[in-house]
Amino acid sequence: MTVETIIYQPSEVLKAALKLKQGELISFPTETVYGLGADATNEAAVKKVYSAKGRPSDNPLIVHVAAIDEVEQYIKEMPEKAMKLMNAFWPGPLTIIFKVKEDAFGPTVTAGLESVAMRMPNNELTLQLIRETGKPLVGPSANTSGKPSPTTAKHVFHDLKGKIAGVLDDGETGVGLESTVLDMTDADRPMILRPGAMTKEDLESVIGPVFIDRHLVSSDEVPKAPGMKYKHYSPNEPVVIVDGERNLWEKAIKTYKEQGEKIGLLANEAILAELKDEVSAVYSLGEKNSIQEASKGLYSGLRYFESTDATLILAEAYEQIGLGEAYMNRLKKAAGNHFFE
Ligand code: TXA
Ligand code: MG
Repeated sequence: MTVETIIYQPSEVLKAALKLKQGELISFPTETVYGLGADATNEAAVKKVYSAKGRPSDNPLIVHVAAIDEVEQYIKEMPEKAMKLMNAFWPGPLTIIFKVKEDAFGPTVTAGLESVAMRMPNNELTLQLIRETGKPLVGPSANTSGKPSPTTAKHVFHDLKGKIAGVLDDGETGVGLESTVLDMTDADRPMILRPGAMTKEDLESVIGPVFIDRHLVSSDEVPKAPGMKYKHYSPNEPVVIVDGERNLWEKAIKTYKEQGEKIGLLANEAILAELKDEVSAVYSLGEKNSIQEASKGLYSGLRYFESTDATLILAEAYEQIGLGEAYMNRLKKAAGNHFFE
């Protein structure tokens, strides 16, 4: 069944909230990526989220709230460290996993787990949307499962047109990569399951030692966040990561051209300026050495080459520190861990 998908302007937030109250799906902007919203207390609406995205049913959803004090009613216990983190970083790109109260949400939200992920996004329009709806909203990234997450309303429309009631358009998102997911179900061992803009150092400055899910360090381990095990962030063209200076980029371009590939370059302005004449298409990740700009542009860039004749994307590696952890985590998944050597 197809539905008409409406793009709602910021002034139309009440109309969008009405759709959510009626059990329809509305994509909402956040500071990270666009989410696919549904009333988290409406099991039928939440089920539609999985079918619209084509999302595996064992992958639980994040519940989005408009205030810190909304969290307590849904969870079994509030660790002191979690309260400190929320006070320090909410609204912001930090998702916290708590032990969920029985019957707080239907099994479709939590995928049957005994925990629930909660987050307060830093976007005024979406906080208003949640308040107007009067319910917490589930919100996975609003892309077709497996594709790069959407950072504009246009991306959402491209993937989900005909499958959802609308998109609340608030322009391009700021961070560009999804929130940090922190498991607080064992408060003695807070554990990062997915890196994001809120770094280990940021969290440790407030609560002391934070651990990292071993799967993020060793690919032999099974990830604790179900969503991290799936193929992800993949554009239509294969992606190869280039970690080096100009000569390595030149070598990579030459190698793949000889194999008959048409190359798309996803790299900083300085590299593009030097090599644009050698390739079929380019997308700028911004100023050299700006991990903020690179993170903001990564998903848009991966999607961009679909509209060009490029058959292979060469993408720039960044140092894996701070936000670079999250950037490389996503890029490696998009590339199936394929580096040019
Ligand atoms: O920035 C974001 O977090 C965006 C925006 C829209 O808020 N949302 C987002 O949702 O990225 P999604 O569904 O694409 O990713 C949620 C991740 C998945 O990897 C999922 O497996 C994990 O969080 N997750 C959710 N609930 C969990 C739980 N109870 N235990 C472990 N992992 C959980
Ligand atoms: Mg996602």
